Formats: sequence, C-alpha cells, structure tokens
Amino acid sequence: MTQEHFKLENVSFLYEEEAVPALKNVSFTIGRGEFVAVLGHNGSGKSTLAKLLNGLFLPSEGTVLVSEMDTKDPQYTWDIRQRAGMVFQNPDNQIVATVVRDDVAFGMENIGVDPKDMPARIEEALTTVGMMPFLDRAPHLLSGGQKQRVAIAGILAMQPEALVLDEATAMLDPSGRKEVFETVARLNREQGITVVWITHFMEEAVRCGRVMVIHGGEMRLDGTPKEVFSQGELLRSLRLDVPPMARLAEELISRGIDLPAGILSVEDMEREVLARCR
Ligand SMILES: Nc1ncnc2c1ncn2[C@@H]1O[C@H](COP(=O)(O)OP(=O)(O)O)[C@@H](O)[C@H]1O
Ligand SMILES: [Mg+2]
Repeated sequence: MTQEHFKLENVSFLYEEEAVPALKNVSFTIGRGEFVAVLGHNGSGKSTLAKLLNGLFLPSEGTVLVSEMDTKDPQYTWDIRQRAGMVFQNPDNQIVATVVRDDVAFGMENIGVDPKDMPARIEEALTTVGMMPFLDRAPHLLSGGQKQRVAIAGILAMQPEALVLDEATAMLDPSGRKEVFETVARLNREQGITVVWITHFMEEAVRCGRVMVIHGGEMRLDGTPKEVFSQGELLRSLRLDVPPMARLAEELISRGIDLPAGILSVEDMEREVLARCR
C-alpha cells in the first residue's frame, strides 16, 4: 500500500459561473496516518478542498489522487468515497434516523454492507467514540459533541482510511469541541487513520502534526505547528489569529526578553519561563 494517502498536483477548482477559481494551483502530499490541520479565513477554499479529497468535486485542472486512485476515474468513485469519510459543521444536518443505532447503520447500508455484519460494526464504532450507552437513544436529544461523535461512528462503521472533518467543532461548546477533537486524535494515534482537520481554532491546529494555511484559494503555509505559528505577521495579514501563548512570546521577545522561537502552549511557556527563573 502506498504511503501517499492524498496527492494533489496543480489542482485548481472553478465553481460554475464564477470568475475566480476557489482553489488555484494547489499541490501537496498527505502521507498515510498524518494528522493535518487546514486553516484559512472564511472563503479561502477549505470546504472546496475537503470535497476534492473524497471525490465529491473533481478538479477543473490538475489531479487529485487518493491512495493512487485518480478521483476523475469513474471506476474509483465509490471506493474513494467510502475510504474517506466526511464530517461537516452542523451536527443536526447529519442525523438521518430516529435512533442512534440506525443512524450509525445508514452509511453502511449505502455501501452495501451485509446486514448480518452490521450490529457488531455498530457496537464497535460506538464504543470507539464512547457513545455505546446511547445505542437506543434519539440522536436529536444528544448534545452537539455527542451528535458529532455519532456522526463519526457512522463513518467508522464503514471502515474508512481517512477522515476529513470540515469545521466539525465550529458549532460546539468548548467541552463538545474537546471531546470531538480528542476522539479524532485518538483514532489517528491508535488506528492510524489519516485525518484532515479543517478548523479555525488555533488551539486545535497547534495539536496537529502539520498545519496548512490556505488563503484566496492558494496554499500559503505548510509545515509543523512551530514553523507555521512562528509566522505571526504573515498569519495576521491572512486574517488569522496566532495562538495566545505564541502571541505573548512574540510580544516578550520584541521587548528584549530572551525566549526561544516556537512557544505554542501554556506548557511551553511555563517550561521556558521557569528555566529562566533558576
Ligand atoms: N456552491 C458555490 N458556488 C459558487 N461559489 C462558491 C460555492 N461554494 C463556495 N464558493 C466560493 O468559493 C470560494 C471558497 O469557498 P469555500 O471553499 O467554501 O471556503 P471556506 O470553506 O474556506 O470558507 C469562496 O469565494 C466562495 O464564495
Ligand atoms: Mg467552509
């Protein structure tokens, strides 16, 4: 199996009747098992990119390969869709059934999983996201974070190789955000599922292995969180925030306080400050 999970080569995407492409000449490779955050201001092209990654959209120019399968080749369409599950922003729009168990089964029904295999796969998926106690509950009565975890279970039951989450935490409260992020981080860590995590929460991006920043349909930054968040000025010019501790570090450094580059979290700051107080 190839180590390249997603490979984009000079990809542009133009919506019908639009003058300006939503994505312009984007190229990158995402390896199997990577956990990549995608940042960008509203309208920068993040959702368009997400839909190109599972073949929902086809590039106007260039090539999108998913596990070496060209999304333009119709023989791979199904394969690609079921191997890269998508989670969207609004948990309510993703509920399709009146009982959690049926909601999780829905995706499997669509791809023709043998009904006798379903109960075990439903249980396994719900256990993985910590929602097994809610098997027979009504999904619309759950919290936002719980709904998103049920949505993730529905995808896991289809046994995907990748998850593409398009601002899956945007409508959640802080605790719901945390529970969904932790669930996905664990899936990445323990099952090696490739994750593309589109977000505008810097504290989430800081915790991903790699951060991409798109702006005006172009890839502007692509690196480790340390590399990307050390570009405070550029990020602000792209109308993005810098994580609070990175901002504080910048401010202190500009006032002549000796701190290293790459401070991102409270833990980083604590370590560096204490090291200077000895
Ligand atoms: N269905 C559509 N038809 C025409 N233009 C669209 C459509 N969806 C998005 N766009 C445009 O494409 C650009 C990128 O949008 P999108 O990918 O949704 O960005 P993001 O998810 O980063 O907010 C924006 O300029 C947006 O207005
Ligand atoms: Mg979007």
